[in-house]
Amino acid sequence: MELKGMRLVLGVTGGIAAYKAAELTRLLVKQGVEVQVAMTAGAGHFVTATTFQALSGRPVFADQWDARMPNAMSHIDLSRQADLIVVAPASADFLARAAHGLADDLLTTMVLARDCPLLLAPAMNRQMWQNPATQRNVAQLRADGVGILGPASGEQACGEVGAGRMLEPAEIVDAVQAFFTPKRLAGKKVLLTAGPTFEAIDPVRGITNLSSGRMGYALARAAQQAGAEVMLVSGPVALPTPAGVERIDVHSALEMQAAVMARAAASDIFIAVAAVADYRVAKAAEQKLKKDQGGVPTLELVENPDILAAVAALENGPFCVGFAAESENLEAHAQAKRQKKKLPLVVGNLIQDGFGGDDSRLALFDEHGAHPLPPASKATLARQLIEHIANLLRSY
Ligand code: C5P
Repeated sequence: MELKGMRLVLGVTGGIAAYKAAELTRLLVKQGVEVQVAMTAGAGHFVTATTFQALSGRPVFADQWDARMPNAMSHIDLSRQADLIVVAPASADFLARAAHGLADDLLTTMVLARDCPLLLAPAMNRQMWQNPATQRNVAQLRADGVGILGPASGEQACGEVGAGRMLEPAEIVDAVQAFFTPKRLAGKKVLLTAGPTFEAIDPVRGITNLSSGRMGYALARAAQQAGAEVMLVSGPVALPTPAGVERIDVHSALEMQAAVMARAAASDIFIAVAAVADYRVAKAAEQKLKKDQGGVPTLELVENPDILAAVAALENGPFCVGFAAESENLEAHAQAKRQKKKLPLVVGNLIQDGFGGDDSRLALFDEHGAHPLPPASKATLARQLIEHIANLLRSY
């Protein structure tokens, strides 16, 4: 789901994690969200309204007696204009007040008067989080249909370690996106490969492909947000694991093949995004090859197994999606690959269109022909691809 154009009220309550709400505002605005910040009096002890006004491009509301709204009903007007209210950080005190329906400041009044969904990202000391009173309040809020994001575990501002950290701003943006994504793949198991493989020559050298892993990771995230159970078999990349995705790290094509084949039969969908090395060294040296051993070494190469073709050949195997990164004649190569590997869907991209970057241009090739997608971010393209897969699956 695109967040562009969404109107979101961001409630900020009093806690040290309030400084992260500034970054959250920035990330949401970057996605095209209209962010209206509403602060509690406590939040003002940690961050200022000026920070949020500068980042959101809108005046901040903090006082229920604010006279800026012509009808003096800012709590009603602001919540009616919102598609979603997110409170981050949500303090223990705020959870208690929201759970009990108190309306003693602007934010709690807006929350009570809303007719849109409410997501809360708790942030507090671990003892405060574990306290039965807080847990009771959270259970009540959940029962009332309020979404609770996190909290995460880890080191806390007070120096203690435990559950109660606010989710990172990027994780909250992900959670908002997931909340609005139709669960088109609910109950489906999706297996993906992503990134390059690394074929050792000796303990420090190897053969690899250029692949950032971004497209595969964006697809894993989009599939997870669409309700699937996602397993990501990843070659060496420097990317964080998307929330809710199980990741298995591998290096070589043979390791990738073993990880995939162990799970393929139990999967409903297999998406092979990895840039698997076509060849590996027949026998990698156990010790580092030395330059002064005379002459230039000769490497004997052997062909790697085609993981995607093997999965596509499984009887009753998953719905298989392949990628074709080509430097020319995209359609001809992609359709040829689709037929050769017997795939229902191949995703083609020209190498010159955003290899390694955040944006890309893709065209989808299936039995109905070519479906070019407009250039977009990999996150957007991933969501469109998951939609297309969900549509094809209905008639598969
Ligand atoms: O044949 P080519 O390498 O161009 O095919 C690309 C598609 O096949 C990609 O989806 C890639 O992940 C998959 N593939 C694979 N195992 C290989 C080679 C490619 O799964 N050894």
